Amino acid sequence: MADYILEMRGISKSFFGVKVLNNVKLEVRPGEVHVLLGENGAGKSTLIKILSGAYRRESGEIFLDGKSFIAANPKESIDAGVSVIYQEFNLVPEMPIYENIFLGKEFIRNKIMVDKNSAIKESKKYLEALGIDIDPRTKISQLSVAEKQLVEIAKAISSNVRVLVLDEPTASITEKETRMLFNIIRDLTSKGLGVVYISHRLGELFQIGDRCTVLRDGQYVDTVRLDQTDESALTRMMVGREIIFEKLPVHNIGKPVLEVRNLSYKKLLYNVSFNLHKGEILGIAGLIGSGRTELAKCIIGAYLANSGEVWYGGKKLKCRLSETIKEGIVYLSEDRKDEGLILPHTVMENIALPSLASYGKLLLNWKNILAMVKEIIKKLNIHTHGHHNIVQNLSGGNQQKVVIAKWLKTDANIYIFDEPTRGIDVGARNEIYNIMHEMIQDGVSVIMISSDMTEIMKMCDRIVIMKEGHIVSIVENTEALTQEDILTYMLRGNEEYESAS
Ligand SMILES: Nc1ncnc2c1ncn2[C@@H]1O[C@H](COP(=O)(O)OP(=O)(O)OP(=O)(O)O)[C@@H](O)[C@H]1O
Ligand SMILES: [Mg+2]
Repeated sequence: MADYILEMRGISKSFFGVKVLNNVKLEVRPGEVHVLLGENGAGKSTLIKILSGAYRRESGEIFLDGKSFIAANPKESIDAGVSVIYQEFNLVPEMPIYENIFLGKEFIRNKIMVDKNSAIKESKKYLEALGIDIDPRTKISQLSVAEKQLVEIAKAISSNVRVLVLDEPTASITEKETRMLFNIIRDLTSKGLGVVYISHRLGELFQIGDRCTVLRDGQYVDTVRLDQTDESALTRMMVGREIIFEKLPVHNIGKPVLEVRNLSYKKLLYNVSFNLHKGEILGIAGLIGSGRTELAKCIIGAYLANSGEVWYGGKKLKCRLSETIKEGIVYLSEDRKDEGLILPHTVMENIALPSLASYGKLLLNWKNILAMVKEIIKKLNIHTHGHHNIVQNLSGGNQQKVVIAKWLKTDANIYIFDEPTRGIDVGARNEIYNIMHEMIQDGVSVIMISSDMTEIMKMCDRIVIMKEGHIVSIVENTEALTQEDILTYMLRGNEEYESAS
């Protein structure tokens, strides 16, 4: 048997004359979870796309089970046993889950689903293994980002895999689903499969990974065993310098600015009430389907609540999009592709769009706009070949940085961030946290929805914990609070609180 189930050697690739991979190697052993690590734009996804046949390599060799292997297209790599879960979803929105799972596989011949009932039954099995209780006949377009992610995973494990690649699988799923995913991964590796795992959540890598290959600016840095290293050593390899996490500054919290009273929406939110104070970061934690995003969308008026009120600055707020934006309440969507960005436009256009009004009424001051755009590109370290680059061509994490950048320059009073650091590397994550603290010092208030428990604990003054559309608890983020406490509320709820409210 070959030493490596997958071996990539001397891989190089350029886009428009810019080298994004230079002589990179990746060696994955059978039964191993091999982590691929690097800052946003380091070249991880490009390397994977070369493996899967989505991109053509410039030079280099690939071996699968010791045999030379070059996929001309993704179908060839799937047939050879390479299954990739991409960072950006690859599901057909208007098709049901089960058709997506079995697209191009045994239940479909000549584009016709030959055995629909078996496909539905099989799909259900894979979804249940991931702990999701959704009817496989549901259309993809009706799913949340996290549910789409889980369907992607179900799709990948449903084929005959030798090498499974997961490009940021946990970016939008919570602790509980992550644990389930890890069990599935361990089950696969115990059967001798090779797993390549990409993630910016450094903490979790040590739970699941065996070895780790680090890339920096398209160059191979090193491959190390994860039980012989730690987070700061990995960060140094990845970034080339130390990143110091500063402690949460004390916020000067004022009076309530936003009061949400008994908000209900379809069968997704029930009598939700809480206050947001001036100068506060309020976290919202909860599992998939707990209603976090729906709550944000009802407040800003993207969804129309069935009952309840939102009070803002002593007045009842008309929860209509045009009104809430005018009042200075902005929402940064978790779904950057559909709601956050205009992909065929440039980095500059995307960043400047929401704040254009502040650069002149009739004639825009382009010099100032350009200076602002350049400053924020530098501050967030957006990896782009200039502000005229098309957003579509940026790496996943750099696209997310653009989403954040475009809203930071508007002068809103309340920011609702939905998974703000999803897919963002450790350095830029820290920058975003610092920017949030600066905003808070200026008297802005922030609601932060996040599946990243470390981030919730690090950033928030108070935490609203939701379960199945109900608020089960609102806790002060004191020294005594642990991640386990929050998780317990998220899973089991809080009878005391529920009976009192
Ligand atoms: N289709 C493309 N056209 C032009 N440039 C591209 C294209 N795809 C990727 N790039 C560039 O290649 C570089 C590497 O991108 P890649 O997506 O591989 O990064 P990554 O390591 O996956 O980052 P992230 O953590 O943000 O996902 C980036 O500078 C990106 O802008
Ligand atoms: Mg990527």
